[in-house]
Amino acid sequence: MRTVNASNAVNIADLRRLARARLPRAVFDYIDGGADDEWTLRENSRVFDDVTFRPRNAIATPHCDLKTTVLGTTLELPFLLAPVGSTRLFYPQGEVVSARQAGEAGTCYILSTLSGCRLEDVKAATRGPAWYQLYIVGGRQVAEAGIARARDAGFSALVITIDTPVAGNRERDTRNGTKEIVSRKPLRMLPHLWQFVVRPRWVLGLLADGGVMTFPNVMIPGEGPMPYAEVGTQLQEAMVSWTDFDWIRRVWSGPIVVKGVLRAEDARRAIDAGASAIVVSNHGGRQLDGDPPTLRVLPEILEAVDGRIEVLVDGGIRRGADIVKAIALGARAVLVGRAYAYGLGAGGAAGVGRAIEILRADVIRTLTLLGCASISSLDASYVDAAFR
Ligand code: FNR
Repeated sequence: MRTVNASNAVNIADLRRLARARLPRAVFDYIDGGADDEWTLRENSRVFDDVTFRPRNAIATPHCDLKTTVLGTTLELPFLLAPVGSTRLFYPQGEVVSARQAGEAGTCYILSTLSGCRLEDVKAATRGPAWYQLYIVGGRQVAEAGIARARDAGFSALVITIDTPVAGNRERDTRNGTKEIVSRKPLRMLPHLWQFVVRPRWVLGLLADGGVMTFPNVMIPGEGPMPYAEVGTQLQEAMVSWTDFDWIRRVWSGPIVVKGVLRAEDARRAIDAGASAIVVSNHGGRQLDGDPPTLRVLPEILEAVDGRIEVLVDGGIRRGADIVKAIALGARAVLVGRAYAYGLGAGGAAGVGRAIEILRADVIRTLTLLGCASISSLDASYVDAAFR
């Protein structure tokens, strides 16, 4: 039997298995896990089963057009790479590697504030558009410096994540000793180090990449890049509220995307706050367990927005058919997080490239089977939604 590697993985679940085999447990669980009982994490994917297809058969679609336009930019694919923090721990130069693959495929990469590569290097690595996702870690002054750098580097939109007033309760991280591991206190770290001993290839990669990353896009005055160990405490002080948007609009003149909308009222507030787009998102089930699966609240939000701004959605997408369902229900495009993060953890550029290719091929096949020639002609007539 052919050995499965990242380049010939058949589906995203294969990439997940390969990531689990390559990464130390604490790193894999950081990607894979969710908050508390992980109900929302599971529901995000399960809810796609509530939507079934209504194909138009015997219709020839010799060429399926996957192009879409998001914030005025044409993308070759209807999915963007979601902001995922700390990807430099998944693979050396993780953010640069992922951005490059997104650009090769003609789609947009969204860089998290909490990334391990300099935002300038990430932007330079991609031929495609890139957006910068903002957490106000380190306070407004630090954030303003990051925003100015993002503008100068050519990031074309600012994504404001509004669902993180505090980090979610990720019990896998607690059990794996993540806090202790990053504490840099040898006695606290010791009981948890076995996870790394059994993954020597990952450890060698990390060492060759400069050791445990810091946050070079969060430059603390007089100190330098924010150290990894401070991320938890800093996030608690980084809450965004609607009153921050006046300031954000003063320091960023480009389009603003509000990520983390789960109710009609917040969609309206985002519009009032000057957003050009929103992402219906529960942070991939990593924040408030019990949040609804995003696909289920999408229709309510689309109704409230009524075409005034663009509506994207993320959460639980593991197959191209999921992407098609979300767009048929009215989303402009979707974001994928874990689907590409597993690929990166499984095998760097080859893994991210494979994740994108799997989803792209899935979307084309699904559209062909639906008798629908393009992403732009998908509509609700192609699906039946019976949410439970
Ligand atoms: C995230 N997500 C996230 N979101 C954000 O706005 N800033 C961030 O730094 C991160 N970091 C992060 C790390 C990891 C490991 C994951 C898996 C996710 C949330 C992300 O942008 C997106 O909303 C979800 O990943 C979507 O769900 P799926 O596609 O992972 O199921």
